[in-house]
Amino acid sequence: MHDAPQILRFPEEFIWGVGSSSHQMEGNTTNNQWHAWEERGGILSGDRAGLACNWWNNAEEDFDRAREMGVNGMRISLEWSRLEPEDGRWDEAAFARYRQMLRGLQRRGIEPLVTLHHFTEPLWLAREGGFASAKSPLYFERYAAKCVEELGDLCDFWCTVNEPNVYVGLGYLLGLFPPGRKNALLTSMRVLSNLLRAHAGAYNAIHARQSHARVGLAHHICLFDPGQENAPLDKLLASVCDVATNDLVLDALTRGRFRGGLHLLSGDLSGVRDTFDYIGVNYYYRLMVGLNFYRQSQQETQAARATHALHAASTSLVGSAVEHPDDQMDAGSMGDLRVIYPDGIGRALRKVAGLGRPIYVTENGFADASDAKRPSALLRTLTALQQEIEQGLDVRGYYHWSLVDNFEWVDGWSINFGLIALDPLTQKRTLRPSAELYGRICRANALSPDILDQYMPARLIPVG
Ligand code: BGC
Repeated sequence: MHDAPQILRFPEEFIWGVGSSSHQMEGNTTNNQWHAWEERGGILSGDRAGLACNWWNNAEEDFDRAREMGVNGMRISLEWSRLEPEDGRWDEAAFARYRQMLRGLQRRGIEPLVTLHHFTEPLWLAREGGFASAKSPLYFERYAAKCVEELGDLCDFWCTVNEPNVYVGLGYLLGLFPPGRKNALLTSMRVLSNLLRAHAGAYNAIHARQSHARVGLAHHICLFDPGQENAPLDKLLASVCDVATNDLVLDALTRGRFRGGLHLLSGDLSGVRDTFDYIGVNYYYRLMVGLNFYRQSQQETQAARATHALHAASTSLVGSAVEHPDDQMDAGSMGDLRVIYPDGIGRALRKVAGLGRPIYVTENGFADASDAKRPSALLRTLTALQQEIEQGLDVRGYYHWSLVDNFEWVDGWSINFGLIALDPLTQKRTLRPSAELYGRICRANALSPDILDQYMPARLIPVG
C-alpha cells in the first residue's frame, strides 16, 4: 500500500511573486553607471540593455500577464538615475511614471515590493566614486526619504539595497561589474560598509516617514561546499568563502560590526544593527570550492572553457561540480559555476533563521531558455521551501526571478531567466511551460499531487 500523495500547502497570505529590476526591464536607462559600462565595452559580448523589456513605456501588459498567472506580489526597483538625474534635482515626471506603475499593480491585486538600489546608480554619483565615496550613504538616505514621501501612499514594503555582497564582489574583486576593479580588497570593504550604512540610513528615513513600513534588504546567499569532502584545505576555503560572502552582511545587521579583525576595515557600523523588519534571501546555487578540485575541473573542461573568456576570470578561487546533469543550467559568464541546487534552499534559509525576523525569498530562478529543466527545478525548490515552513521557518513569500527574460548583467541577453520568453528585438513574448506551472501553484497556494506528477515524475529519486 502506498500513502496517498499529499498536497503541500503554503500559509494563507503567502506572497507568490515575481522579481524584476529597473535597468534589466525598463529600457533606455542611459543615465547610470551600467549604461556607461556597456558603452565602454564592459560586457564582452557587446550586449546592451537597450530597450530591455520596454517597461518604461509599457510595463502594464506584463502586469496583466502576471495577474493572469495569479501572482499577488511583484518586486520592482526604482531607477535612481531617473528620479535624481543630477545631484539634488528630482524628476517629477519619473516619479509620476512610478506612481502609475504602482497603481497599476495595486489595481491588479499585486502588492509591490519596491527596491531602491538594484546594482545601478546615477552617473553623477558614479563620478564621485559611487559607494566608495564617504558621502554615498547620505545621498542614498536623501533619495530614500524622497521616494517614501512621493510614493509612500502606494507602497509600504521596501527593499533598500539588492545584494550588497554581489555588487561588491563582482565590481571590486572580480571586475565583472562596473567599476571593473579586480582584487581591490580594501576598497571592497569600504564599499560594502558604505552600502550597509546607506541601507541603515534609508531604513531610518523610511520609518521616520512611514512608521508601519516593512523595510529590509535582499541578501544573496550562496552555499559553499568543499570540492573534496574530506580535504581540510577545501573545507577551510569553503568556510572562508561562506563568511566573506554570506556572514559579513548578517554580522552588520545583527551585531553592528563585522566579525574578527574585519571590523577594523569597516569603520563604525553600529548604526546598522537591527535595521531590518524582514530579511530577503536571494538564493540561486552553490559553489564547490577547493584547490585540487579546481585544478581537476580545469583539465576536464579546458576545451569548453576556452570559449568562455570571462569565465576564467571568475574562477580564480573556486572550482565547480556538476553533481547531477539536471543541475546544470544554461552557462553564462559563470560557466559551470552555476550549479543549481534546489534542495539547498533550506540550508540558505536556515542561515537567516536565527535573525528572528520574517523571511522572504526575494529571488530564486533558473537560466533555462529551453525550459526543459526549470519546471522540475522550481518544484524541487518549492517542495524544499514548503518543508522548511512546515518545520517552523517564518517564510512569508517567494518571488520568482523572473517574470520575463531581461538584460542579465554580465551575460547580457545570452541567458534567460524568464517564465516568459522575450525577443528583445521585436518585444514579442512567448509563455514558457513554466509560466503555466507557476500560475497553477500561485492560484492553488499549494503544490498539488497532480502538478508534482506531471512536472516532477522522478520526485521519489533523491536529487541535489
Ligand atoms: C540579481 C538579478 C539577476 C539574478 C540572476 C541576482 O543576483 O539580483 O538582478 O538577474 O541574480 O542572475
